[in-house]
Amino acid sequence: MRNKIQHHFDSIAHLYDDRYDGTRGRRYHAHLSEYMMRNLVQGGRLLDLGCGTGLFVTRYIGNGGEAVGLDISRGMIRKAIERCPESDFTMASAEAIPFSDGSFDALSSLLVFSYVRSPEKMLSEAYRVLRPGGSLAICTLGKNLMTSGLPAIYHLGEVMRVRQVCVGAFGERYYHETEMEDLLRHAGFTGVRVLRCSFAHYGLIDPVFDIAKKVEPFVEKHLPSLAYNIFAVGRKPPV
Ligand SMILES: C[S@@+](CC[C@H](N)C(=O)[O-])C[C@H]1O[C@@H](n2cnc3c(N)ncnc32)[C@H](O)[C@@H]1O
Repeated sequence: MRNKIQHHFDSIAHLYDDRYDGTRGRRYHAHLSEYMMRNLVQGGRLLDLGCGTGLFVTRYIGNGGEAVGLDISRGMIRKAIERCPESDFTMASAEAIPFSDGSFDALSSLLVFSYVRSPEKMLSEAYRVLRPGGSLAICTLGKNLMTSGLPAIYHLGEVMRVRQVCVGAFGERYYHETEMEDLLRHAGFTGVRVLRCSFAHYGLIDPVFDIAKKVEPFVEKHLPSLAYNIFAVGRKPPV
């Protein structure tokens, strides 16, 4: 039986790219993706956990790598196959990855971690399927003043039957830098770095978005607690 998250993403899959591949959403998503790309082994074999409609898979293979996408939503995977027919996609949970040990050079997960029920399970699975020396990059909404009200807003959206991407009560969890760092270290990753990124959120109206985009580098460097997302990287130690 489909769980609530699967059901939601199946039902909004046809709307997803309007948000993250439209004018503002594309700039927002590209900004987060650039953080990920800079920190992953390039040109290797990537597994994208919670690949959605394949936006990051497309970006990774555009840089000369090979990529496999995994997602719990059949609807999102259908869209990913349309976008990227040359890659393989599989329907599964990031908490039970159906690949053998050491099969990937790089693991990515973009805007997914907040939905995962057991982050410990996902990270231990990520560690298992990564080859020694391989890299992991995660970008997810972080906990701060602006994001702490989101679950209540999304819950209200569900009550009011708003049918929009990511609107619903999914028990989402947002993390602090120290929590992310502890989770990655505990799973065995080394060289762990965690920082805040993004200030120009796709949800802002146009003129505000442009201003936020201009000040984004300053915010990320000097006022990171105002940034929306948390970005974490680590490596599986080489044998
Ligand atoms: C906000 S979308 C992000 C999609 C994509 N990573 C991107 O950057 O556009 C969240 C995605 O995570 C998937 N997802 C949520 N929980 C998951 C889990 N436990 N395992 C795999 N995918 C999951 C959803 O089905 C959805 O496609």
